Amino acid sequence: MPTRTVSAGRRLPLVVTSDGELLDELLRLAAAAGTEVEVAADPAAARSRWSAAPLVLVGADQAEACLRARLAHRTSLVLVGRAGHVDPGWEIADLVGAQHVAVLPSAEPWVVDRLGETVPSLGAGGPGRVLTVIGGRGGAGASVLAGGLAITAARRGLRTLLVDADPLGGGLDLVLGWEELEGLRWPALRQADGRVDPPSLVRALPSRDDLVMISWDRGDPVHLPVDAMAAALDAGRRGRDVMVVDLPRQLDEAAVIALQAADLGLLIVPAELRATAAAARVARSAAPHCPNLSLVVRGPAPGGLRAREVSRSLDLPLVGTLRPEPGLRRALERGEAPAASGHGPLATLCQRIIREVTGTPVAGAA
Ligand SMILES: Nc1ncnc2c1ncn2[C@@H]1O[C@H](COP(=O)(O)OP(=O)(O)OP(=O)(O)O)[C@@H](O)[C@H]1O
Ligand SMILES: [Mg+2]
Repeated sequence: MPTRTVSAGRRLPLVVTSDGELLDELLRLAAAAGTEVEVAADPAAARSRWSAAPLVLVGADQAEACLRARLAHRTSLVLVGRAGHVDPGWEIADLVGAQHVAVLPSAEPWVVDRLGETVPSLGAGGPGRVLTVIGGRGGAGASVLAGGLAITAARRGLRTLLVDADPLGGGLDLVLGWEELEGLRWPALRQADGRVDPPSLVRALPSRDDLVMISWDRGDPVHLPVDAMAAALDAGRRGRDVMVVDLPRQLDEAAVIALQAADLGLLIVPAELRATAAAARVARSAAPHCPNLSLVVRGPAPGGLRAREVSRSLDLPLVGTLRPEPGLRRALERGEAPAASGHGPLATLCQRIIREVTGTPVAGAA
């Protein structure tokens, strides 16, 4: 089971070249633009991704091969060459159907701009990214991971909504040390439905800086209506940059629609045999609703079970591992929010996941 980079279902620009030096140049420009790219050495390797990629950069070395391969006509197609090497002339560009010819290094800024345009914009009301977290067994660390992801995103200045969707959990407000904060909780919001406009929903919630939260009060556990979750998802996607949902292991209808909306679903599993067996049952119920379900394995591993073995046995891609962090347990007991210091295994993993899901660098990232 390969380790996967998280791209939240985002389609990446495609580079078609077998010119190693040109590829190095283009990878450098992609990094400057804040995006990953997919790479194909020739048109045969490019064919399956050719039409869906938001931008295709064809190296001058592959122009004729692309012409012979009769790839479909498409927009956002650029022929790229290096000054003093194979000349990417307009004639061949025309035949291939490229709208632009870029010669490096002079066209570098232009190429960075084109690559940058493929990165989803977060500030301008673009759709908020939805992440869900579910534990492979009780006490797996799902709520702590959900809290850590939300705190990390908000530290980056991303407008974040954290949702506690587990009626029987210990309460995410307690995980963050927010139990005294004013604002509406689920029981008061259960009437919410699609008619609630996202800004007023968000304004009614407990908040601190860029983070707002929907959690439970200390009353009796209540069922979470699917309409209330639909309203929360709407608020998250339309009104926030990032939304993190802490899910119950026993999926209800509300949890199912959150999984269906997720750009990335995380299943967190302690590195233990019985936890893996329990997680297999959770994965079987969650995976059909979430094609992006991925695994986080949390240490310690008392029997030496490796993250890759857990990944293989659950047939889920591994997003990351968490080393044991005894200091975190103590900090949580003191009411400190997870990942708030920006240091340690949890903070580092959360920074990487937020960066990869949103395509933005995270302040304080390792
Ligand atoms: N990354 C971590 N490092 C160290 N300890 C952790 C970590 N995550 C969780 N814990 C410990 O495990 C406990 C349970 O974590 P958490 O509440 O996040 O689990 P959960 O999967 O949400 O459990 P539940 O089944 O109750 O919803 C925490 O109170 C904390 O002591
Ligand atoms: Mg929990």
